[in-house]
Amino acid sequence: MRAGELRDAFSSFWAERGHEVRASASLIPHESSLLFTVAGMVPFMPYFLGSEVPPTRRMVTIQKCVRAGGKHNDLDDIGRTNRHFTFFEMMGNFSFGDYFKAEAIPWAWEFVTDVLGLERDKLWVTVHVSDDEAAEIWQTKVGVPAERIQRLDKDNWWAAGDVGPCGPCSEIFYDIGPDHGPDGGPAHGGEDRFVEIWNLVFMQFAADGTGEMTPLDAPGIDTGAGLERILAVLQGVPAAWDIDLFAPLLAEAERICSKTYGTDPETDVSMRIFADHARTTAMLISDGVFPSNEDRGYVLRRIIRRAVRHAWVLGVDEVVMPRLVDIVVDVMGDHYTDLIANRQFIADVVAREEERFRTTLATGQKILDEATAGLEGADAANPESASPESANTEAADTVLDGEVAFLLHDTHGFPVEVTEEILTERGLSLDRDGFEAAMERQRERARAGRSGGPTFADERYREILAQFGPTQFVRDTPAVSPARVLAVFEIAQDDEHDGDDDLVEVFLDRTPFYAESGGQIGDVGTISGTDGSIEVLDCTYALADLHRHIGRVHGEGIEAGSLVSAEIDDGRRAAIRRNHTGTHILHWALREVLGDHVKQAGSLVAPDRLRFDFSHYEGVDRAQLREIERVANAEIITNGRCRHYETSMNHAQAIGAIAFFGDKYGDVVRVLEAGEHSTELCGGTHVAALGDIGHLRIVSESSIGSNMRRIEAVTGLATVERLADAEDTLDSLAEMLNAQPDEIASAVQRRLDETKELRRQVRDLQRTMASSRAAELAATAEDGVVVADLGDLERDALRDLAASVRDHGGIRAVVLASAPAAGGVALVAAVDPAGDLSAGDLLRDAARTVGGGFGAKGDPPLVVAGGRNPDGIGDALAQARVAALGA
Ligand code: SER
Repeated sequence: MRAGELRDAFSSFWAERGHEVRASASLIPHESSLLFTVAGMVPFMPYFLGSEVPPTRRMVTIQKCVRAGGKHNDLDDIGRTNRHFTFFEMMGNFSFGDYFKAEAIPWAWEFVTDVLGLERDKLWVTVHVSDDEAAEIWQTKVGVPAERIQRLDKDNWWAAGDVGPCGPCSEIFYDIGPDHGPDGGPAHGGEDRFVEIWNLVFMQFAADGTGEMTPLDAPGIDTGAGLERILAVLQGVPAAWDIDLFAPLLAEAERICSKTYGTDPETDVSMRIFADHARTTAMLISDGVFPSNEDRGYVLRRIIRRAVRHAWVLGVDEVVMPRLVDIVVDVMGDHYTDLIANRQFIADVVAREEERFRTTLATGQKILDEATAGLEGADAANPESASPESANTEAADTVLDGEVAFLLHDTHGFPVEVTEEILTERGLSLDRDGFEAAMERQRERARAGRSGGPTFADERYREILAQFGPTQFVRDTPAVSPARVLAVFEIAQDDEHDGDDDLVEVFLDRTPFYAESGGQIGDVGTISGTDGSIEVLDCTYALADLHRHIGRVHGEGIEAGSLVSAEIDDGRRAAIRRNHTGTHILHWALREVLGDHVKQAGSLVAPDRLRFDFSHYEGVDRAQLREIERVANAEIITNGRCRHYETSMNHAQAIGAIAFFGDKYGDVVRVLEAGEHSTELCGGTHVAALGDIGHLRIVSESSIGSNMRRIEAVTGLATVERLADAEDTLDSLAEMLNAQPDEIASAVQRRLDETKELRRQVRDLQRTMASSRAAELAATAEDGVVVADLGDLERDALRDLAASVRDHGGIRAVVLASAPAAGGVALVAAVDPAGDLSAGDLLRDAARTVGGGFGAKGDPPLVVAGGRNPDGIGDALAQARVAALGA
């Protein structure tokens, strides 16, 4: 039976017994207490614990599992045992509070004996020391002889981690024969002889991490049957490395090592490591784990490096991992089809990682060679050759300084295990304490310097860049592009986006989103995955060449590793394009009209407008602005072609390209030739031909500092809208003036002349009226004092009136008040300069009463005061009267 047939047989057997067939879950578990999916039950932990209700109570899966790092760590055993793998497939049938031991045990037996056809008398079982019930079922219900049922303690207890569901288990073993180890059953016999092929966990408890266990409400069944181990038994090979799944990988490993598998035990280990690590690497990358310096990414990095180190030690110079992962895709792709879709990507990721690590190894080796040149190594092949005395007295000469190993590790990324390995080969050793001490000092420095040093985020960005290279900007193709998610980070609350807890930053391998630079703002749009999406609100550079999409999560969001569709708001981008090329044309036109001293000092290119700051020594007057506009638009309507291309800096300079403010340029630059005349360096996005810009319209010109001007302008539809608005205003003005739009100016002039004439007439009339009024008021004098409220007479007229009343014979004082239509209160006091009254005294209280005052210097005969409160006029005048006449 081959792998594919076994998978099918297992799924069908349980489907016939009412189990829903589920595809494997990701190797990245939802359960955050675990590094990887280490067993078939991991995706179902909440169902066992009762924290989630399962959609159905019986399921069957063939689950991808990785055990490397963390509690379930098989990494160090790989290659040296017959059946430990970092990646393996675990077949499992599950009952969530449904059937239990009485069904699970006989069914397991039925599958193993009837479907797989394994001989009954070669099968052994183990049960937990406490589990009489299971032992009883095996013996009486299934018929396994008592002497082939053994009881174990810890080995028959299973838990995914310190926290989570756990319980006693019962395992089935296959005896592959006396050639492979001593007798005595799984409890006492040889490990290689009694092969565990089936583990039935009776999930009964929930562990809380402190050693406390609570019984589960609904105990269930979790079966783990290792696909590779069963295949080894079925295919009659003592080591699981010899099954069909590994054959093509080991064949490639033979080509890599130029050796035949099975001829040299040490090379065999390396070959197995190639095969195993390539599988794990391909499966992890396909599920979205990438080599990095943090948790699961770090485990993956170690796995890749371990394989590369073996190749390197074997003297293999060419890059091996891409070759190996390619074969993993061939072998596993028919069942795990996402591998096929990810083939190239997986190869790219491992190639980059391997190349980087090989550079590290080469540099480290050189430094190590120099550092060990002075040391007297013992003969590695013959350690006894060093005399006992020299071992004691000259020990220092065979020990490498820990600081050197630290430098190798810290500055060159050269793993300390590799240093040790090389030293051992040369009969030397490492001052491990010195190394650890240097590490500790480094940690302290890092702690002390944390506030000023590069932030965690910066490191993560650098890591992504190192890992995947620059974001590929999809510049010329449509607004939507398939992409792979490289990383998704939550944006911390205390960042600039305070209060918005659903914001994330997303990194893609390629993107149609322009990242804000060179004045052009970032694109907005959507990144859509299968179960959710990101509404992209902005796109900026996290680092040069690394696009960071900042957005809001919708639905389940998106996951690192997944394939998504990235789509920008194309209409908005089109408007940005018009404004960006428009900016170039405006720049050119400014230099045409104002002179070559005009230099760009900054710009903003947004969808609704463009802003251009430039050096110029004076304001640009209206006529110049119209000329600039005319020159720019005349250029636009030539509809000249825009050519945007990459070239060398030298060539760009040779053709006289103008460098845009604020951009950084390398040896390769991007040049925009916009029509016949404008040639600039620019990385932005641009129209194909000038006519696409539409009508460019300057909307403002202002000063932003000495010799620095700013112009704002619009293009395309924004101009159309602006002009339409202006025309609407003119139309409504014409209507108000009862004129044709083109007669507005003369109509307005006519009305202005008319107004002027009317004003003059009003003034004359007021004067005439005032003099007759003065006579009337003088006639009302009481003891030579006139006090009166003049309604809404304006201030100047009120003052004139007061003066002319006073000039009538026998008048000692005049106090007048009014509330002019323009607002407020006017008060005037005028006294006979020869008399004994003071104008200021007359108004002092009165002015306060109307909420005002006056500021007359000295004691003039006429004082004008103002106030805010017309309601106080009556009282104010009464106070003035008292001041003039006495109470
Ligand atoms: N969880 C158990 C194991 O991994 C059975 O699936 O062995």
